[in-house]
Amino acid sequence: MLIRTAEQDIERVLYTEKAIAARVEEIGTQLTKKLGDKRPVLVCVLKGASFFYIDLCRCMNCAIDMDFISVSSYGAGAQSTGVVRLIKDLDNNITGRDVVIVEDIIDSGLTMHYLKELLAARKPSSITTVSFLDKASCHDKSLKTDICGFEIPDEFVVGYGLDYANYYRNLPYIGILRPECYQ
Ligand code: PRP
Repeated sequence: MLIRTAEQDIERVLYTEKAIAARVEEIGTQLTKKLGDKRPVLVCVLKGASFFYIDLCRCMNCAIDMDFISVSSYGAGAQSTGVVRLIKDLDNNITGRDVVIVEDIIDSGLTMHYLKELLAARKPSSITTVSFLDKASCHDKSLKTDICGFEIPDEFVVGYGLDYANYYRNLPYIGILRPECYQ
């Protein structure tokens, strides 16, 4: 039997495991410098950000609190539905806390905008937005995050948490998906 591997669906690797690890470490150091004495609450936006989030937490050399929120705007398709749905809220109160929202990717910017408004209404002391990837050409400049791992072109990327119909999340690198896999 011929077994098709995920690698066959990848057109090109954009960031290797090594490049990802080096950039995550830099972001961890930057966040530790900024919020190290504040015991920040790091909010993981499930599910896409999960790999980046765990690696980032490990790169922070200070006390942190971990919390998780789940939203969805893409469902099983390749296009955003334009409506963000809250699936799971945070477990903890963030009033007066320094919050870091951790995303895997900013595409239209809709999800991060929704999350910022949702969490700002709870009166945290500060909100820092972090995204590992940013498709800068796909959204308004005002939707840029405070910290970004890499700016990428408008390509369909998967791996390191990013999916298409829930496939490819567990690839250890970020790659461009062959168009025939999602068209
Ligand atoms: C993806 C991704 C971001 C969001 C970015 O989530 O993880 O949260 O879309 O897109 P936007 O900037 O256009 O809003 P998705 O809704 O696919 O859920 P998932 O993280 O569970 O894959």
